[in-house]
Amino acid sequence: MAAPAAAAGRVGFLRSEIQRHDHAYYVLDAPSIPDADYDKLFRELQALEQQYPELLTPDSPTQRVGGKPLPQFAPVRHAVPMLSIRTETDTEASGARAFDARVRKELGLSEADAPVEYNAELKFDGLAINLRYENGILVQAATRGDGETGEDVTQNVRTVRCIPLRLSGAAPAVLEVRGEVYMSRPDFERYNERQRAAGKATLVNPRNGAAGSIRQLDPALAAQRPLSFFVYGLGETQGWPLPATHSELLDRLAAYGLPVCEHRAVAAGAAGLIEFHQRIRAGRDALPFDIDGVVYKVNSLALQQRLGFVTREPRWAVAHKYPAEEAMTTVEAIEVQVGRTGAITPVARLAPVFVGGVTVTNATLHNEDELRRKDVRIGDTVIVRRAGDVIPEVVAVVPERRPILAPEFVMPKVCPVCGSAIERPEDEAIARCTGGLFCPAQRKQALLHFASRRALDIEGLGEKVVDQLVDRGLVKTPADLYGLDTGAVANLERMAEKSAANLIEAIEKSKATTLARFVYALGIRNVGEATAKDLARHFGGLEALMAADAAALQQVPDVGPVVAAALAHFFAEPHNVDVIGKLRAAGVHWPEGEPAAAVASPIAGKTFVLTGTLPLLSRDAAKDLIEAHGGKVAGSVSKKTDYVVAGSEAGSKLEKAQALGVTILDESQLKGLLK
Ligand code: IVH
Repeated sequence: MAAPAAAAGRVGFLRSEIQRHDHAYYVLDAPSIPDADYDKLFRELQALEQQYPELLTPDSPTQRVGGKPLPQFAPVRHAVPMLSIRTETDTEASGARAFDARVRKELGLSEADAPVEYNAELKFDGLAINLRYENGILVQAATRGDGETGEDVTQNVRTVRCIPLRLSGAAPAVLEVRGEVYMSRPDFERYNERQRAAGKATLVNPRNGAAGSIRQLDPALAAQRPLSFFVYGLGETQGWPLPATHSELLDRLAAYGLPVCEHRAVAAGAAGLIEFHQRIRAGRDALPFDIDGVVYKVNSLALQQRLGFVTREPRWAVAHKYPAEEAMTTVEAIEVQVGRTGAITPVARLAPVFVGGVTVTNATLHNEDELRRKDVRIGDTVIVRRAGDVIPEVVAVVPERRPILAPEFVMPKVCPVCGSAIERPEDEAIARCTGGLFCPAQRKQALLHFASRRALDIEGLGEKVVDQLVDRGLVKTPADLYGLDTGAVANLERMAEKSAANLIEAIEKSKATTLARFVYALGIRNVGEATAKDLARHFGGLEALMAADAAALQQVPDVGPVVAAALAHFFAEPHNVDVIGKLRAAGVHWPEGEPAAAVASPIAGKTFVLTGTLPLLSRDAAKDLIEAHGGKVAGSVSKKTDYVVAGSEAGSKLEKAQALGVTILDESQLKGLLK
């Protein structure tokens, strides 16, 4: 049966809606629709395509993953060769000056002539890809290969969600764009966290993650690796008049819905380039992806043409590097550290090495399995990575440099701090000290984490202070910090009156925070910064988060059963709930957000009455929770009451509710209702 026109029209509508939302989400980073509504559109499209297979097209958003594993990649001859660029090895300002001087000389400019205009952009650290769009449809994606011939990786590239399968607006007959497929740092960290928790192999760095995924023969596997893309140039075009400048070119590509990095600038002369180089270097750690430098391009396409190429490199572009984020050094010792959740982390003590802008002397080896897999031994020469402000890690051993006598490292059986047994459940990758909060190391780490820069950010609460506060029994939990006074702190060793006052002030200041920071600060197992942000965004309030069950938690992007279980376990522990209560009582607060889930709340506009003592939620918490979901809480039961939530020792209100036939819920039924 041929598809009716109505179905064809609906399919077209659904595709353009989904494309619009994908663009908002993956390119603009500004979601335009709740996840559940998006899923609805997507499922409707899938159903229509299944019913009318003749409507199925390769640019449908349902076709991002679907291909079969390939025996090998087919070769692709590039219509326009994919060139590389010269790298300026001088990482100082003089590197930019040298490039500008060469360009001016080639163009025959004298000192009296105006500065050359450049487009300055980032040098993304991933894998170069050519995307070919014919009449606006993505028809082929290829790697660079040797520049003349690359590999057809279309199947895998289709899984990259920020790459449009169809260009928006009126597209030319042929438009090839070039750019870099990369893996963002949060995606890399999250992926590795998950792999590690599952005892599986991790990615060495985001670049290998991107390259390895794109060169993966099974597209289903590639689809599991979260990749992104930035466009930075052009290949073949047909029926497309070129703009006058490279910066305009990027604007026009962005208008097609292609992801163009926002960190770019039109710069005048060497001074403009140097300014850009320095500004980006200062912000490099805060970028959510790795860069290994910046790229300068002569902005005028006419001048680019005049400058032309030397061998395989354009004279009009150069890469100006930053110091490397990976370096080689040797392992002087391997020790184990006890983390805030008792996790035993093997750490390599290193011969000091300058990497990623700092001197590194320690690098994590993550866990026993990873240490085994990498087989790091004392005396080994290793590659250390420090990117962003992520903890430095050993990524690999250089096997040729292993000394003759290098015995394998053996993990200890008891905690080096408290002497408790170290246990490792069979299905887990992490060995843990069983001492719990009896173990001073765990207590100290929990406090340090709570106070860390990305958590509650208490300046001055470093290792030495925490050691003393715990050893003297002044502080057991983070809540105790808020009971400290200048006198007690000034009594600590090497603590002047002034620094004591500063610390107390910093503790006071930390009370105003955000929900995401607070959740992260709690130090819940498997809940890193990215997950904490996702949770805060999704639930909008702490009560809603605390009340969520495993199913509700797994509604959050990237929260799987492991993280959901860790959260549920944490909030089920009365001690933790108690500490949270004390922190809030001490004045720790944050702006309340609108939970994303409230949009389609089943209790919107309903009236509740609370009575008796609930097992986990305080009266206030239950009220906040109901209100956060759009319900109202009243003081007395009447015919207008929709629900009575009853705990232990509920009195007359419960009786009245029963008499009036009002629905009665206990705490877990309330939570069930809010799912
Ligand atoms: S332009 C003809 N721009 O760096 C000019 N390349 O050799 C072609 N890269 O592997 C390259 N960021 O994939 C250009 N903003 C950027 C870039 C960039 C990263 C990569 C490119 C290639 C290498 C240059």
